[in-house]
Amino acid sequence: MISADASRKTGSRPKIAIVGSTMVDLITYISRMPQEGETIEAPRFEMGFGGKGANQAVAAAMMGAEVSFIARIGDDLFGPATRQNLESYGIDTSHVDIAPGVSSGVAPIFVDPASLNSILIIKGANACLLPSDIDRAADAIHASDLVIMQLEIGLDTVYYTIDLCREAGIPVILNPAPVNPYLNLEKIDSVFLIAPNETELKTLTGMPTESLHEVKAAAKSLTAMGFLRVLVTLGDKGSFLVSGEGEVLVPAPKVKSADTTGAGDAFIGCFAVLYLETQDFLKAMEGANRYAALSTMRNGTQKSFPDRKSFEAAIF
Ligand code: RIB
Repeated sequence: MISADASRKTGSRPKIAIVGSTMVDLITYISRMPQEGETIEAPRFEMGFGGKGANQAVAAAMMGAEVSFIARIGDDLFGPATRQNLESYGIDTSHVDIAPGVSSGVAPIFVDPASLNSILIIKGANACLLPSDIDRAADAIHASDLVIMQLEIGLDTVYYTIDLCREAGIPVILNPAPVNPYLNLEKIDSVFLIAPNETELKTLTGMPTESLHEVKAAAKSLTAMGFLRVLVTLGDKGSFLVSGEGEVLVPAPKVKSADTTGAGDAFIGCFAVLYLETQDFLKAMEGANRYAALSTMRNGTQKSFPDRKSFEAAIF
């Protein structure tokens, strides 16, 4: 197992490459889920740009990083709009290519009155991002201080990118979402940091994660397997880091949430930027907790993410 130091190469802005997904989010705000065979009315619907990779790219860009995104987009109406949306945040899309004849990824999302969400994903073009695409984007990856990945693309591409980064000494943050039961942990244990939520941690380890005590035991089982750092996102409870140096819980600020969709992605994108800027896990966790909390106060996914100025001006 090899890890890399996550410090900045040159320049004043952190350089981050994100290898991952884009989706079109179809968000329905519901009063409750219908039963089988039942039709009920929902009060509101919104469409927006999402996908865990794109969300993390937008959060990192909003926080001031130079972001290069590596992805496949759909050969339909949503494809060019997705590229345009990424570019509107200043994200480099030189390695965002259309998957010929394949639909865009879409995500029907249901947000309940408690602002919690349930998400279905149809991968579409995201499944067409192959190791050969990663080879074509190798320059952008090599020029980065850090690479961020999630699991809305094929596992072979995830393993290939992690290997490439390990050989090049580039740190990787892996957000194992949505969790994939076929994920081979031995092929990903060289990452700088793995960042699951409690549900993902439970699937990865087969251990309960209801209480903080259980989360700690499950996260420690990953470090015992060779992972250097496990950062568990705990929603409104904050985030919890376990590493060789010990463990720490950083509580999240209390806010009135409207929609939690994409909050985990907001956390990851912001955490990466703040860590590259400060080299301080606690500062990065504290800031990312605040950034994610702020994102839940507005509806939608990417459009709920604050820019750096509003993030810094926010008072809780
Ligand atoms: O993490 C939230 C995201 O998950 C949504 O934007 C949706 O597209 C799915 O990828």
